[in-house]
Amino acid sequence: MNSRVRKPIQILPFALAAMAVLLSACGSDPLAAPAQQVKAAGENQASVSYTLKTAMVDGKLFFVGQGGEIDGMTNPPLPATPGQTVQITLVNGDGAEHDLTVPGAGAASEPVMRTGSETTVTFKVHQEGSFAYYSSISGDREAGMQGWLVVGRGGGSAVQVSATAGDQSQGGSEKAGSTGSTASASASSQSSEPATAPSIVREPTDLPGPIGDRPAQNLHIDIEAVELLGQLADGTTFTYWTFDGQVPGPFLRVRVGDTVELTLSSPAESSMVHSIDLHAVTGPGGGAAVTQVQPGESKSFTFKALNPGLFVYHCATPMVAHHIANGMYGLILVEPEGGLPPVDREFYVMQGEIYTTGKFGEKGQQDTSIDKLLNQTPEYYVFNGAVGALTDQHPLMAKTGETVRLFVGVGGPNFISSFHVIGEIFDRVFDQASLTAQPLTDVQTTLVPPGGATMVEFGLEVPGRYLLVDHALSRAERGLAGFLEVEGEPNPEVFFSEAPADGSH
Ligand code: CU
Ligand code: CU
Repeated sequence: MNSRVRKPIQILPFALAAMAVLLSACGSDPLAAPAQQVKAAGENQASVSYTLKTAMVDGKLFFVGQGGEIDGMTNPPLPATPGQTVQITLVNGDGAEHDLTVPGAGAASEPVMRTGSETTVTFKVHQEGSFAYYSSISGDREAGMQGWLVVGRGGGSAVQVSATAGDQSQGGSEKAGSTGSTASASASSQSSEPATAPSIVREPTDLPGPIGDRPAQNLHIDIEAVELLGQLADGTTFTYWTFDGQVPGPFLRVRVGDTVELTLSSPAESSMVHSIDLHAVTGPGGGAAVTQVQPGESKSFTFKALNPGLFVYHCATPMVAHHIANGMYGLILVEPEGGLPPVDREFYVMQGEIYTTGKFGEKGQQDTSIDKLLNQTPEYYVFNGAVGALTDQHPLMAKTGETVRLFVGVGGPNFISSFHVIGEIFDRVFDQASLTAQPLTDVQTTLVPPGGATMVEFGLEVPGRYLLVDHALSRAERGLAGFLEVEGEPNPEVFFSEAPADGSH
């Protein structure tokens, strides 16, 4: 990797240098003009060509100039003159899917899907102005992949420089605020016919049994990043990104002191780079720094579980919020020495938001709206990945006289859960999922932050249906609810009524 690429902070000096080149190109010194391109405006060359290579550095995505005056520059300004034919070759340097579009000039390339693959887009520019170029693949532009095509004198040098330095709020002669244009374009082309796809819901009982009292061990964990179409709601499908094909990802269960070799792989048909950051890991990026896997790759690292607790893990590939919103989160439990006290039933529940292009309830295939994601205006809130996951599909089942333990996490990416079970009181809340502090007792509602978790325990005294909710109850109207169905004999000493229960309160 070019060392200059590693320091995004150097973009501004480069941009200024490029502006100097641009200005001198309009002057009289021919030696100052970039070798491969613009001459003085009077002697308009027929064409100009550039090569850009995609790169991911320190969690951001860039186009990196190849050859000539733009060599090594991130998101370089690309000068041209009116009347010229512009040819831009895009080379895939990081393995994720990208493209290059210049809407202001009516140009859009084919996507480049694999490392080393390339595509060329050729178009003619007619008017002076500054035109944004960027990758229209969902999330790329927000992660940093955008620069400016500067035709003639552009649209004002000060604006161009700040825009080139990554500030999307500044416009050139074209407004850069069209972040969501691709999303809204695809939304309008979507059918509203009901669509069906396989379930991506992980059952709340899908978790390994207790570790109990055993010495520390060496363990191997294999996880696969899987992109797939899944059922989000009745008649509505969504393209999920997952760990092991379900939401949340697999419940990982280890003991404090265990040494874990974790391998993350991604099938060749993936379109994105993925990674894993486990909050239980002590080390760079929680593992994400060493597990950025391209399609077809796998990467491993080894960590020792130093702290007991219940921890979130998630994909940490730019744009991280996008990868999380699409379903890439799960929980890892690090049991303390001696294990956890036994209970009758354990359940695995995670809350997340989904930012679809279409409104809540709209049928058909939905894509992620980056606009809504960045504005934090989700259409859906879900437990275990989909509307109905823990109600119609897989309600939590238990019996009176039993004790239950809920492992509850929030993938998010953005919203705190005010977790509550309607009709129950948590006997114990392991606040913030600390398993070494004394639990809170007799709690109604507990906060679970994004990237955080809680462990709650309670006994079941009265049969009936109990609702798992986020007590920010507008979210129940957007898909967020679960059932705990408790069977058993009535217990009139604790609860009695002549009226039949309607199941919803
Ligand atoms: Cu990912
Ligand atoms: Cu995190």
